[in-house]
Amino acid sequence: MNNSQILKSFMQDRLNVLVGDISKQDTDAIVNAANSTLLGGGGVDGAIHYAGGPQILAECEELRRTRFPKGLPTGEAVITSGGKLKARYVIHTVGPIWGRHNKNEAKLLANCYENSLKLAIQYKLKTIAFPSISTGAYSYPQEEAAQVVSTTLRNFLISNFELEKILLVFYTKADATIFLRNQKFETITN
Ligand code: APR
Repeated sequence: MNNSQILKSFMQDRLNVLVGDISKQDTDAIVNAANSTLLGGGGVDGAIHYAGGPQILAECEELRRTRFPKGLPTGEAVITSGGKLKARYVIHTVGPIWGRHNKNEAKLLANCYENSLKLAIQYKLKTIAFPSISTGAYSYPQEEAAQVVSTTLRNFLISNFELEKILLVFYTKADATIFLRNQKFETITN
């Protein structure tokens, strides 16, 4: 599935935490930490558009023209082809900018993951890779994000069995370690 190093698995190995480049993941879909313009940027967004080529941007421009003339709202997700990527699809979602959403950031971050997963199921995908949405340019504290993300994904995985594998791809070992130290997969009681 990918040549990145898996650091830890959870949920009967249906969720893997690893260090790597999201744009190189060989999953059915990879998730882009986009902005509302859907027209590219830096970080994950830059890497995916750079590796995926102009086809992805062309499809994003079409989405803007036909469905989201004012931009993709925070927490929403859309899907395009993967262009030249190994992944067949890119699911673009817009994470919350820390401190800009009247203390609604946690819900909006959860929405990013939930709405991306809904699209993956709708497209009958089996594997999906997420970057650490909002924890870069959007300044979401990594410790808080880890709690929101792990709780959201655990709640999804205990009631949805269509997806075989979710990868959480961190760019550095340090980022992955912060996630592992703050994840709630192992501490939530039923
Ligand atoms: N693969 C995996 N993770 C990456 C990669 C990559 N190639 N590049 C960066 N990251 C990590 C960052 O180190 C950070 O931990 O992904 C996390 C999210 O960082 P950003 O890409 O900055 O995403 P975000 O915080 O959601 O900000 C989105 O930044 O790039 C712009 O257009 C984008 O305006 C949007 C904003």
